[in-house]
Amino acid sequence: MPSLRALGLGLVLLLQVATGKPLSNRAVAAADCKPTGVTKPTAPDPTLPLTGGATELPSTNLTLQFVAIGRGIQNYTCSGAGAVPVQQGAIATLYDATTLARTNTALLHTIPAIVVYKPKPSGYMAVLGQHFNILGNHYFDSASTPTFNLTTVTPLQTAFVAKTLGVSAPAGSSVGPDGTGAVAWLDLNHKTGYPSMGPSQVYRVVTAGGMNYPNCTSNSLQTIQYAAEYWFYS
Ligand SMILES: *[C@@H]1O[C@H](CO)[C@@H](O)[C@H](O)[C@H]1NC(C)=O
Ligand SMILES: *[C@@H]1O[C@H](CO)[C@@H](O)[C@H](O)[C@H]1NC(C)=O
Ligand SMILES: *[C@@H]1O[C@H](CO)[C@@H](O)[C@H](O)[C@H]1NC(C)=O
Ligand SMILES: *[C@@H]1O[C@H](CO)[C@@H](O)[C@H](O)[C@H]1NC(C)=O
Repeated sequence: MPSLRALGLGLVLLLQVATGKPLSNRAVAAADCKPTGVTKPTAPDPTLPLTGGATELPSTNLTLQFVAIGRGIQNYTCSGAGAVPVQQGAIATLYDATTLARTNTALLHTIPAIVVYKPKPSGYMAVLGQHFNILGNHYFDSASTPTFNLTTVTPLQTAFVAKTLGVSAPAGSSVGPDGTGAVAWLDLNHKTGYPSMGPSQVYRVVTAGGMNYPNCTSNSLQTIQYAAEYWFYS
C-alpha cells in the first residue's frame, strides 16, 4: 500500500506533467500536508536609473549587493599648456546607501548633486535626514585599475574592474563646484587576472561633477570634485 504522502506526491507529479509546470516548493509543502506559512515576498532589486540618451548602460543578470554614494575627486594630469588632460585616477570615500536604494531610490538619486557641493565628511555622511556609514573607498591602483575596497564588509571585499562601457551623463546633471560637468555613467566589470573578492560588476551612475577642464594651461594636475552612485553586483 503506498503511503498517503507518496499518493499526494504522485498526484502533484501527475499535475506537474499535466500542466507542464515545474514542481514548486509550495507544491512539495502541500504534498507534505504541512502549513506553508506566510512567506514574505522578496522585493525585487531596485532598477538602475537610465540616462534617457541614445545608448543606455546594459542591464545585468547579477544580484545587487550594495549601493554606495561616492564622494571624492577625479584627477587629470596636464603635460603642458594646450595639452589634453589625461585621467590619472580618482580617490573617493564610499558611503553605504543600500537601504535607501531599496526603500526610496528617487530620494537616493537627489543626493550626489547635493553632497558634491559639501566637503567630504570624515566619518559618516549625513544628508536629507539620512545617515550613511562608510562602506569603503575607491581609488586607482598603480596600474591605473579602478579599485573598490569595501573595507567595512566582513570579509573584506575588493573589486578590481575595467570599463566595459561609458555613456554621457544626462543633460541637466550637476556640473559640480568646479563647473566642469558630470562625468560619464559607467559599466565596470571584473578585470581579468586580478584577485577580486565580492562584486564582479559595478555601475557608476547619477554622477555630479568630476569632468576635466577641456584643456590644459600648464604642466599641472586638475583635481575635480565629484559625487556619484555606485551599484555593486555579484
Ligand atoms: C548573465 O550575463 C552574462 C553576460 O552578460 C552571460 O554570460 C551569462 O550567461 C548570463 N547568466 C545567466 C544566468 O543568464
Ligand atoms: C590622483 O589619483 C591617483 C590615482 O587614484 C592617486 O594615486 C593620486 O594620489 C591622486 N592625486 C591627487 C593629487 O589627488
Ligand atoms: C583595502 O583596505 C584595507 C583597509 O584599509 C587595506 O588593509 C587593504 O590593503 C586594502 N586593499 C587593497 C587591495 O588596497
Ligand atoms: C582652452 O584653450 C582655448 C584656446 O587655446 C582657450 O581660449 C581657453 O581659455 C582654454 N580653456 C581652458 C579651460 O583652459
